[in-house]
Amino acid sequence: MVKRRPSSGRWLREHHSDPFVLQARRDGYRSRAAYKLLELNGHAMVGTSGRLLAPGMTVVDLGSAPGGWCQVAANLVGHSGRVVAMDLLVMPPLEGVIFIQGDFLGEAALEDLGRAIHPRRTVDVVLSDMAPNMTGIAAADQTRGELLAEAAHDFARQTLRAGGSLVVKVFQGPGFHETVRRARLDFERVKVIKPQASRDRSAEQYLVGVGFRAAP
Ligand SMILES: C[S@@+](CC[C@H](N)C(=O)[O-])C[C@H]1O[C@@H](n2cnc3c(N)ncnc32)[C@H](O)[C@@H]1O
Repeated sequence: MVKRRPSSGRWLREHHSDPFVLQARRDGYRSRAAYKLLELNGHAMVGTSGRLLAPGMTVVDLGSAPGGWCQVAANLVGHSGRVVAMDLLVMPPLEGVIFIQGDFLGEAALEDLGRAIHPRRTVDVVLSDMAPNMTGIAAADQTRGELLAEAAHDFARQTLRAGGSLVVKVFQGPGFHETVRRARLDFERVKVIKPQASRDRSAEQYLVGVGFRAAP
């Protein structure tokens, strides 16, 4: 029999009484993470609508499984938009979402995503909720989190249209200020937000950059 650590029992108890988990079940979302994107979308200080995601947009969702953010994004971009998603894990199909299973840090990722985006379309919004598998070794976890955030930022620089937006999960730690500084070079407005659905004990926050300054 598998012996659970006390911490995993506590996690299960907390998980099943978590208001966002209960709400996600009621609303039909695959994960409680959906509420983070809904809140970030309302925070986004973009355009006249004040929203990040709008009908007709092309959105890339990195680290998409199980699919809460994809559900929110597909719903907001509607039939005239498209969502292209990638994860290391399998993600069951969702209407309006093109899913690619793969390692975003791997060599084929850019090509695979590029093909799915379509050569004549640029991207309006890059989302990244990617998180490394936590080892419990703080410095190593921090470094891997920073690497994923940096790769998502680089991808956004290569694919976003002028004026486009980036939402990326970042972790408080030694590289945090440098991450924000880099984003300020590329985006007109940058905000770091801790959504209510993000657990207090988690070091995660979300960097939102709007108004991408594309190279002339
Ligand atoms: C917090 S979960 C994402 C939850 C998702 N946003 C949702 O709404 O359901 C983080 C995801 O990042 C993925 N991930 C981590 N490293 C990755 C990589 N190198 N390439 C692709 N996905 C990655 C993990 O497999 C995991 O599914």
